[in-house]
Amino acid sequence: MVDNQHISKAMTIKLEDMFDDLPEMPQFADGIRRAPARHFTLSPKDAQLALKNALRYIPEKWHRQLAPEFLKELLTRGRIYGYRFRPEEHIKGRPIDEYEGSCIEGQAFQVMIDNNLDFDVALYPYELVTYGETGQVCQNWMQYRLIKKYLEALTREQTLVMASGHPLGLFASSPQAPRVIITNGLMVGCFDDPDNWNRAAALGVSNYGQMTAGGWMYIGPQGIVHGTYSTILNAGRDKLGIPADQDLTGRLFVTSGLGGMSGAQGKAIEIANAVGIIAEVDYSRIQTRLEQGWIGQAIDDPAEAFKIAAQYQQQKKSIAIAFCGNVVDLLEYAVSNNVKIDLLSDQTSCHAVYQGGYCPQGISFEERTELLQSGHAGFKEMVDSSLRRHYELIKVLADRGTYFFDYGNSFLKAVFDAGVREICKNGKDPLDGFIFQSYVEDIMGPILFDYGYGPFRWVCLSGQEEDLKKTDRAAMQCIDPERRFQDRDNYVWIRDAAQNKLVVGTQARILYQDAMGRMNIALKFNEMVRNKKIGPVMLGRDHHDTGGTDSPFRETANIKDGSNITADMAIQCYAGNAARGMSLVALHNGGGVGIGNAINGGFGLVLDGSQRVDTVIRRAIPWDVMGGVARRAWARNKNSIDTSIQYNQMRKGSDHITIPYIADDKMIEKLVTEKLRDKK
Ligand SMILES: NC(=O)c1ccc[n+]([C@@H]2O[C@H](COP(=O)([O-])OP(=O)(O)OC[C@H]3O[C@@H](n4cnc5c(N)ncnc54)[C@H](O)[C@@H]3O)[C@@H](O)[C@H]2O)c1
Repeated sequence: MVDNQHISKAMTIKLEDMFDDLPEMPQFADGIRRAPARHFTLSPKDAQLALKNALRYIPEKWHRQLAPEFLKELLTRGRIYGYRFRPEEHIKGRPIDEYEGSCIEGQAFQVMIDNNLDFDVALYPYELVTYGETGQVCQNWMQYRLIKKYLEALTREQTLVMASGHPLGLFASSPQAPRVIITNGLMVGCFDDPDNWNRAAALGVSNYGQMTAGGWMYIGPQGIVHGTYSTILNAGRDKLGIPADQDLTGRLFVTSGLGGMSGAQGKAIEIANAVGIIAEVDYSRIQTRLEQGWIGQAIDDPAEAFKIAAQYQQQKKSIAIAFCGNVVDLLEYAVSNNVKIDLLSDQTSCHAVYQGGYCPQGISFEERTELLQSGHAGFKEMVDSSLRRHYELIKVLADRGTYFFDYGNSFLKAVFDAGVREICKNGKDPLDGFIFQSYVEDIMGPILFDYGYGPFRWVCLSGQEEDLKKTDRAAMQCIDPERRFQDRDNYVWIRDAAQNKLVVGTQARILYQDAMGRMNIALKFNEMVRNKKIGPVMLGRDHHDTGGTDSPFRETANIKDGSNITADMAIQCYAGNAARGMSLVALHNGGGVGIGNAINGGFGLVLDGSQRVDTVIRRAIPWDVMGGVARRAWARNKNSIDTSIQYNQMRKGSDHITIPYIADDKMIEKLVTEKLRDKK
């Protein structure tokens, strides 16, 4: 029988070597947002299991002291976070040279992780939540400590295996292999639902990585500003008849949410020259955006908010107004007073609708938090009834000419789950989609993803603002603004990026690009690193993209050949990126839409200036995007077919995409109708 002494001797990377004694419980600073207590549903047997699981990280000498402490965390917070092991100092992504490491990738990932937990960046930093209400870097602070140590030890001959926040260990590989392979929240099919996942998370065996939280690639709300800017701009062009070379001047966009991702909406409204009103129930989030300058004013009276918006619309000036209150109340006013809203959406956290993501009408944010804490009495019904009312108001506004779109937060699905069957096209289930469009189905999919345009991003690991400026200029030179209107929008975006002051946390940038655009910019940056013009760079993307994500209610909402319920693309993308030598690959369950609703993957590539990395860029970057374009082409998406035809010509001899023949719709319909009629 092995004992704990043998176990301790068998490891060189372990918690006890980091501390002489059990560390003191660090202070909790005032004013830092805390995650609501996660609903505790474990049986007494499961609670024992959760404790034993957490103590796996802890040497036996501390078990008696920590077991009651961990149990208290479990009972009061619904999870064991191991707060005692949280570093006392302010965590932030520091310049790469300040990190220990045995290879540059190991140092680079530490910058990324620490940025994800920065107080200025993370949503609930004490609970390791980066954004999206539940998206965590890892499950607990013991894991955080160990991951940092593993990354210090990691060499170019090893790969670190990260299983739902748990560092399983280092295993021999090669310089051409990924340095880190991450999975988060993956469940076996028959258990792939929120209840089973919630139990697994409380037991300490599963982590919700969202997309870039557990994939270590978050760059603050800037990451989503570009996508939001493109979405509302193109919604205006497509639905309001605004010409391709114009913006949203004089138009009103109403939405909700000023949190991690949704906080981007204010800035995107300003860049697109629109007027916006954004409802938010949590005043601390409004405060953050006001301080940042991404919101012009905060108003708690709907009449006043719409009055000021109308003045700005008339003057053709842009402003983003925060409405301090519930979005349903804001819409009640708009409906009763016949306010004309051009574009309408919602960005509450409906992927976690009963876990605090959606505050029901009729209670304050603080009351919501108390209800969550005290065990949900009646909370679900309050959420459901609010969602039903929310839907009715949207329907009235849509009938009056407002264009409503689901913003990838699972809003339509949440309304369906609240009992509204008529929201489904077929009146019974979401298989044929919803009566309102998701923004990907209608806008992002056909206009951007089908061509391969997606959220390419980079972080200047030196921490130097000057490096970011140089990369901005270099990226701009790689774009031909005359090719398509999408390129012109991207060109304008990067041209104005510095003056728009988008950076929160590390010196990072996002720039929507297609496959070849991404590859050319990456090669240019790697050359700049080689020539010592800039320090090393981390490349990546979020998972809200052409090829990395299978999510029928979001990223793959415009896949119409029946394959929207499959997850082959995301897994192929992830495996293909690993095979081609990306520095980090990540695969997650749930993403922005909740457990069981999506499989999504991401990557990171450290540009060290080497020829080896040039080769990885040439092979992996086009694959990461074009795998998705090829699948979209196979689903008969027109813009993807055109893009694939061009790609086959351009990459003759190296790549080759199978392109579909198109059957005549009328011929098929006639044949099937006649034959089925005969059969009856
Ligand atoms: N469109 C996209 O590209 C995209 C990208 C990432 C995430 N998302 C999704 O958008 C949602 C929001 O993400 P986030 O990171 O901002 O989450 P978040 O939880 O940080 O922010 C949501 C905000 O909504 C507020 N809120 C909740 N109910 C409200 C109500 N009834 N009225 C007014 N305000 C209310 C909350 O107080 C919170 O601040 C998530 O579901 C996420 O998955 C969308």
